[in-house]
Amino acid sequence: MVTFDWEENDAKEKVKHFRRKGSAAWAVIEVTNNCNLNCRWCYANSGYKSKIMREHMSLNELKKLVRILKDSGLKQITYSGGEPTMYPRIREAVKIAKDYDFVVHMNTNGFALTRSFARELKSLGLSQIQTNIDSVNPRKHDYLRGRKGSFSRAVSALKNAREVGITCVSQTVLTNKNEKEIVSIFEFARGLGLQRCRVWDMMPSSGCALENFDIRPTNYIESLKELTRFAERTGGKHIESGEPFFPLNYKTGLDVSHVPCVASHGVLVNFAYNGDVYYCVTQRKPMFNVFKDLDGRFDEFYKIKLREFLESAELNSECRDCELFEKCKGGCYTRRSYSVDKTDYWCISKISNRQSRVVSRDIPCFSV
Ligand SMILES: C[S@@+](CC[C@H](N)C(=O)[O-])C[C@H]1O[C@@H](n2cnc3c(N)ncnc32)[C@H](O)[C@@H]1O
Repeated sequence: MVTFDWEENDAKEKVKHFRRKGSAAWAVIEVTNNCNLNCRWCYANSGYKSKIMREHMSLNELKKLVRILKDSGLKQITYSGGEPTMYPRIREAVKIAKDYDFVVHMNTNGFALTRSFARELKSLGLSQIQTNIDSVNPRKHDYLRGRKGSFSRAVSALKNAREVGITCVSQTVLTNKNEKEIVSIFEFARGLGLQRCRVWDMMPSSGCALENFDIRPTNYIESLKELTRFAERTGGKHIESGEPFFPLNYKTGLDVSHVPCVASHGVLVNFAYNGDVYYCVTQRKPMFNVFKDLDGRFDEFYKIKLREFLESAELNSECRDCELFEKCKGGCYTRRSYSVDKTDYWCISKISNRQSRVVSRDIPCFSV
C-alpha cells in the first residue's frame, strides 16, 4: 500500500512514532461483515450477494476491545468491515474510541454517507475516511464494486465528508481493469480537492479475492513509478510506502517514508467482528481471539503471537542471501504464501534479472 500526499500532514510524524514505538500502535476493527456492495476483489468476502452469515461486534465487546487497546498504548483505530456505516452502533463506536482519545478513521465505500451523517460522525470524533475510487469511468467503478450507483455515491461521500471537515483519502485497488488509468484516477481525486491518494495492488486472499485473482495488476511496481512521476510533476510532498519493493529500485526527490510491511512489524493489528485477530486483513486465518485467548497485556501477547506466526512462515532460502533482504524483509507474506516458489511475485530482484537496476540504499527500514 502506498499513499501519496500533496499537503504536509502528520502522517510522516505518525510513521516515525510507530517506528520508534516498535509495537502495536494502530488497530483496524472490522465491526461488521455486513456490506452494501459486492466488490470483485473483497478479501473479506463481504459482498451483499454472498451467502455469509451477517454478524456484528456487540457494543459491549467493542467497549471491551477499545479499553484493551487503550491499556496497551495503541493510538489509532480505523473502523472497517464489511461496511462500517452498516454497523448499527457505528455512532457509539466512533464516540467510544474518541472518548479514549484515539485518532478515529474509517474505511467506507461511502454509499450511505450523506452530508448529515458525515457531520454527525465528525462531531462524534471521526477525523478521516478512506474511500475507493476504482475508475474514472462510473460504469467500470460500479462493475468492480459490484453495484450500480456506487461511483456517484463514493464521489458524493467524499464531497460530503470534505465539506464537514473530515480528511478524505482516495483509495484504489489496482487491477488489470484500471492500471492504465491510475494516473487519471489520481488526477480525478485531486480534482475533488483530495490531498491524499492511496493505491494498493489487488491482493490474493480467500473467497472472491482468490476466485477473481485473474484481474490482479500486471505490474504494480511500474504503476507506482508512474504515480511517483505524476506526484513529482504536480507538487507532491510526501510518499508513505508500505510496499516492500517500492521505491527500492527507483530514486525520487520526494520525501519517502518506507515501512516494508506494517503488519510484520507488529505496528498494525487487525480484528474481525468476532474478535479474531489477523496478521493482515488479507490473511483470514486468525492468530488468536482477543476475547477468548488473551493472556496479559494485549501488546505483549500480540508480540509473542506475531513472532510465532512469522517463525512458521515459509521463506525461500535464497531470499535471505539476496542483497535486498535487509530492505524488503522477504516481501509481502501474503503474496509470498500464494506464490509457488514462496517468494513475493513483485520481487524486483526476480523481475530485474531482465532489467538494469538502481537500488536506493538510503531508505530507512525497521530491523526485526
Ligand atoms: C474490505 S473494505 C471494508 C471497508 C469498506 N466497505 C470499504 O469499501 O472501504 C476495505 C478496503 O480494503 C481494500 N481491499 C479489499 N479487498 C482487497 C484486495 N483483495 N486487495 C487489495 N485491497 C483490497 C479496498 O480498498 C477496500 O476499500
